[in-house]
Amino acid sequence: MNNPHIALVTGASGNLGTAVTNQLLADGFQVIGTILHPDEKDSQIQHDRFEVYQADVSNESEVEELVKYLTTKYQHIDVACLLVGGFAMSSLEDTKLADVEKMFKLNFNTAYLCSQKLYLRMKEQESGGHIMLVGARPALQADAAASMVSYSLSKSLLFELNKIINAKTVETGVRSSILVPSVLDTPPNRNSMPDANFNDWVTPEQLAEVVSFLASPKSQALRQTILKVYGNA
Ligand SMILES: NC(=O)c1ccc[n+]([C@@H]2O[C@H](COP(=O)([O-])OP(=O)(O)OC[C@H]3O[C@@H](n4cnc5c(N)ncnc54)[C@H](OP(=O)(O)O)[C@@H]3O)[C@@H](O)[C@H]2O)c1
Repeated sequence: MNNPHIALVTGASGNLGTAVTNQLLADGFQVIGTILHPDEKDSQIQHDRFEVYQADVSNESEVEELVKYLTTKYQHIDVACLLVGGFAMSSLEDTKLADVEKMFKLNFNTAYLCSQKLYLRMKEQESGGHIMLVGARPALQADAAASMVSYSLSKSLLFELNKIINAKTVETGVRSSILVPSVLDTPPNRNSMPDANFNDWVTPEQLAEVVSFLASPKSQALRQTILKVYGNA
């Protein structure tokens, strides 16, 4: 590719982030991956089309700086995979407001801030842009949410954000998709659920292949996209 398309991956040092970054590099993208801590820079993927950018994406001014930096350096941002997020178990009986706020900051604020700033930029681009969010199954299934209250609530608003971005795609050229994994086959999940059948889970690489499709021109006609990537879990 002479002029690579530009992809932002937030949470690039995470389990899913690493797989998505590798996949998009293999697809020919120039990838800018955000990390939270400076010491993660050295452990990052080495590739001539990969750039590491350190930012706390729950901080509005840092996200503004990030988008300004990308716009100045690359002029164009084609795809954004907003992967920062985390998980917590909690029942309604024991979930305090502070627990909800913590999960909102990690799962919603990070995705909202990046989406909002990227949306402003992408709608000025002739070819628009594609924002990818990561939801979670309990946000769609109340029975599963009962033991993951703060997590589910924080992810559920991303489905509303997905609708809002897509409501104006015809005018703005900006669309969004939301990926809904079940359980990813990651080292932390294996440690916390040692008796589970890991083969039922979805590998980060499998989810990265779905991202690869979404990031490609083949997904151009998709709208209001919610992709359930549950494997057999
Ligand atoms: N794992 C699953 O089974 C599963 C299931 C459903 C949905 N998901 C969703 O999939 C996404 C990726 O999951 P994962 O398992 O790959 O998570 P992960 O390995 O914990 O990766 C998350 C990454 O986000 C970074 N991060 C956290 N807060 C940040 C902030 N404020 N600013 C910038 N970076 C920040 C983390 O950095 P540090 O490590 O330095 O904190 C980490 O690199 C998340 O949105 C998660 O909720 C995961």
